[in-house]
Amino acid sequence: MAADTSLDLPTRHDLSEVLRHDMWNHVNFAVPQANMDELEACIATLMPWQLWAKTPTMLGYRFHTNYEWGMAFFQPSVHASTFARVIAEVRQERPDLDEAIKGLESLTPDVNDHTGFIVKSEEEWEARLAGFQAASRNHPEWQVTVTGILRPDDPEALTDRLAQAWIRLGLLGPIRNTFEMQYLNPGSLSAQEIESAGGVSATPRQERTSD
Ligand SMILES: [Fe+2]
Repeated sequence: MAADTSLDLPTRHDLSEVLRHDMWNHVNFAVPQANMDELEACIATLMPWQLWAKTPTMLGYRFHTNYEWGMAFFQPSVHASTFARVIAEVRQERPDLDEAIKGLESLTPDVNDHTGFIVKSEEEWEARLAGFQAASRNHPEWQVTVTGILRPDDPEALTDRLAQAWIRLGLLGPIRNTFEMQYLNPGSLSAQEIESAGGVSATPRQERTSD
């Protein structure tokens, strides 16, 4: 996928113009060394991220021309390799560890560790989700699993403001390996509209409608 890194933001190094306080802006994963090549192929196919820094010890992706507006780094680590290997071994010996990991994976995905990104439209979200599902079937070597899908009109949806899909990349390791992909539902109230009416934008739907 081609990367669109254009964004109408100030180019000068003065974030005080656009930031009122902190902003999450990057993630980093220590990855089992043997998984790096497959991970690069997986991301190149499934994520429209620009591979902006590639060294023997790092894959660095940016989401915008201004790096500070979103980056993801993946670094091979011998310790990540050892951790993945030992966890796999110990899971065979300790049913409680195996159950704990499976339990985390089977929780409502929003509870488990994950890192979220948002895409620009429902159309893109659906197309990307279809891509993840196809990769799960067609590229088992990428270890892609869609662990949950909530569209805004689903009865189980946590909110009507967002769609949510959780995608686990097993190549990242046995835990902390999941991304959440969202789009903002244009049919819902904006956070500003909710708050100006005295609501709290983060209030789950069922609480808000019971008011
Ligand atoms: Fe989330």
